[in-house]
Amino acid sequence: MQRREFLGLTGAAVLMPLLPVPLRADAGPDRLIMAGEADVALMGADKPKTAAWVYGGQSPGPVLRIPRNKQVHVRVENKLPEATSVHWHGIRIENAMDGVSGFTQAPIAPGESFDYRFTAPDAGTYWYHSHHRSWEQVGRGLYGALIVDEDKPVSVDHDLLFIADDWRLGDDGKLAGGFGEIHDAAHGGRMGNWLTVNGDTKPTYRVRPGARVRLRCISAANARIMAFAFPELSPMVAAVDGQPLETPKPLGDALLLAPAQRADLIIDIPVAPGKKIDVMEVSLEPAIGAATIIIEGEPVRDTPLAAPLVLPPNPLSTHALDLAGAMHQDLLMEGGMMGGMRGATYKGQMFDMRTLVLKKGQAWSLNGVAGRADTPLARVPKGRTLTVNIINDTRWPHAMHLHGHHFKVIERNGQSVAGAPWRDTELLDLGEKVRIAFVADNPGKWLFHCHMLEHHMAGMGTWIEVV
Ligand code: C2O
Ligand code: CU
Repeated sequence: MQRREFLGLTGAAVLMPLLPVPLRADAGPDRLIMAGEADVALMGADKPKTAAWVYGGQSPGPVLRIPRNKQVHVRVENKLPEATSVHWHGIRIENAMDGVSGFTQAPIAPGESFDYRFTAPDAGTYWYHSHHRSWEQVGRGLYGALIVDEDKPVSVDHDLLFIADDWRLGDDGKLAGGFGEIHDAAHGGRMGNWLTVNGDTKPTYRVRPGARVRLRCISAANARIMAFAFPELSPMVAAVDGQPLETPKPLGDALLLAPAQRADLIIDIPVAPGKKIDVMEVSLEPAIGAATIIIEGEPVRDTPLAAPLVLPPNPLSTHALDLAGAMHQDLLMEGGMMGGMRGATYKGQMFDMRTLVLKKGQAWSLNGVAGRADTPLARVPKGRTLTVNIINDTRWPHAMHLHGHHFKVIERNGQSVAGAPWRDTELLDLGEKVRIAFVADNPGKWLFHCHMLEHHMAGMGTWIEVV
């Protein structure tokens, strides 16, 4: 039924082409971001609007474009009816600025503001989003793109954003269904029935023949794992989760994006003026149109560029994992429907599964504990390498996100993996075992949680302390 809704509603939409959202030049240090309420035209310009929660009057919020390695000062003002906080996802940030309410900062009460001052050491594509009751606040629209510029501009003809989300909307355009429902939380999370890209239904990108496009793809979905295909084009993956690949690689069939994951695609547009190409979301059958690319205007060049664009390496790339001297930690994921979890400890007390789900709103555990424990999963001396062996003993996929660091997968299902990219969010399929490794060089308390936001709400979150 979910699926029928997802397809049906989208298929019925009148498609209103709009210009792509260009990255704004007016961004820079000392930005004000106002969190508040607004009606947004998610379904298209002539369709009913959606009462959403927004940054700067829009969802996604304004593109926050900042220089690398320079401190920026962003003031967040809370005009929402409830408290909030903002997390700068993927930035190796100072702990006090990480934006986790009730953990790294007090929530920003309605009518109050918070000054975030931080430096982004690595260029790339990141995003910012609420980290206070995020399953509802992100679900209502509180997120935006955070772009950290390379020191020298990267040579592309179009630098474009593709921030995808699935909303659960009624025919009247209103947000439908509740937030934080335990039923969603114990299954795959809250799935939407309406796909938006850049806060719009099937927007149009206008690109020049022969142009080189950098498409910054971000998933802002609460829980859905999306997959985007680019028929007739041959995108190269140049970066994932903000971090450049040493050697860009062809995308293949589709771009799989788990919640919170990003990818920078480099697409060399054919010299085919007048051609229209539909970007398709292909995770469900039949596929649905996500966006349209129209090739028009004067050709930029006679033949598209052939040599792949290699993004300049970030400081992170010099991190050397010291596996010989590493600390090791196991992380057992349990719970959810159709799993074998019998019970777990919650707030220091043991409960059976039924009580956990029905009385405590918890459905998942990490190492037998539901919800954030008082003690960290691991306490690591600064500079030490930590490996975490994540065992997904559930019937559901999970997208594990580590705050303040990027990691590499070094082992999958017992096989060692060489040359994995640096990531901040890794998708584990059901039953998978993945060992990640990272240099714990950023002091503080860092959340480590499933980015399927209802899973995090219902227990799937722990933390790591770097001392
Ligand atoms: Cu993108 Cu803990 O978050
Ligand atoms: Cu999960």
